[in-house]
Amino acid sequence: MYNTPVMGWNSWNTFGSHINEELIMEITDKIVSEGYQQAGYEYVIIDDCWSLKERVDGKLVADPQLFPHGMKALSDYIHSKGLKFGMYSCAGFKTCAGYPSSYGHEFEDARQFAQWGVDYLKYDFCNFPESGNAKNAYLTMAMALRNSGREIFLAACNWGVEDPAKWMRSRGAGSYRSTGDIFDVPKSYRDIFISQVENIEGNAPGCYNDMDMLIVGMHGSGNVGIGGCTDEQYLQHFAMWAFLGSPLIIGADIRRLDDANKATLLKKGLISIHQDPDCRPAFVIGKMEGQKYTLGKLLSHNRVAFAFFNVGTKDDWGQNMSISFDDLGIHSESGVGLKLTDAVTGEDYGVFYDGYHVKLAPDQCRILIGELVAA
Ligand code: GLA
Repeated sequence: MYNTPVMGWNSWNTFGSHINEELIMEITDKIVSEGYQQAGYEYVIIDDCWSLKERVDGKLVADPQLFPHGMKALSDYIHSKGLKFGMYSCAGFKTCAGYPSSYGHEFEDARQFAQWGVDYLKYDFCNFPESGNAKNAYLTMAMALRNSGREIFLAACNWGVEDPAKWMRSRGAGSYRSTGDIFDVPKSYRDIFISQVENIEGNAPGCYNDMDMLIVGMHGSGNVGIGGCTDEQYLQHFAMWAFLGSPLIIGADIRRLDDANKATLLKKGLISIHQDPDCRPAFVIGKMEGQKYTLGKLLSHNRVAFAFFNVGTKDDWGQNMSISFDDLGIHSESGVGLKLTDAVTGEDYGVFYDGYHVKLAPDQCRILIGELVAA
């Protein structure tokens, strides 16, 4: 059973097809030595382009040039560090980059992944036959993984086709990609946020809305790094993904990450909201002119979190954002207040009774954790 949304690292955003076992081992080491593991990042995931271009005797084979010691040895290495191993296949005839894929081979491929000690399978949707049934494709792989003898998390990736929020949970996936691919520019993460912010009511144990891998800290380099974002934008992007309960899968090269963005990926307060044991989905409290969003999320232990995001791109819309606790059902005559702490800086703002007001320029966010204080 999968509880809170997954946290990990994936090779695609930075490395694309330029992957090999040495890289994956170095990344594994960094996840441990730089504090990512301790912060909750758990899965090391190899994306597309890991296999030979053709099956051998009907089997998927890891490219021996890139992975000379084979996938089982790499998996053992990752497990020896207390981390979990993720791999990639696709529901169509070929993967998105043209490698052999699992259509018609689901049960044997799942057994192969189990033999390699795989814990997580990203399952893509390229080259899927027009006559095929997408819902069944994910159901088949979910059953194949269950039949493999190993518990393997199914991370579905059909980019939102046929509205997977409505059916992917029932087909056995632990998460589902809800949008097309992210790129390392502000418009890309903003558009994904706006398209999904009201589509997360179902985010709960068992199946989460995956808004794609993080671009935090990529600075325009790597496979999806077309323009880059500012550090403030990367923080806003990370806070959005954490607050909405999307899997947090790092896409940057963590061997070379600058301090500011490393700090963003390790923000304890934001991760505590993401990993809150109650696993409640967030909800929209209000949307204001100029793309300013206020969200709420019930947390465990008498607490509730708030998020303010200014996703606008122009200053002239004004920067004031506020919530009235009345809108949340906390009426002033009740005498109940909220003791507010900043989830990014850790600053304690004191107890508030009627509401909260903040001025945020475009690209900024404020995330608060509130503890209910009875009269
Ligand atoms: C699709 C997916 C990406 C990545 C690539 C690999 O585009 O959405 O996340 O896995 O395929 O080819």
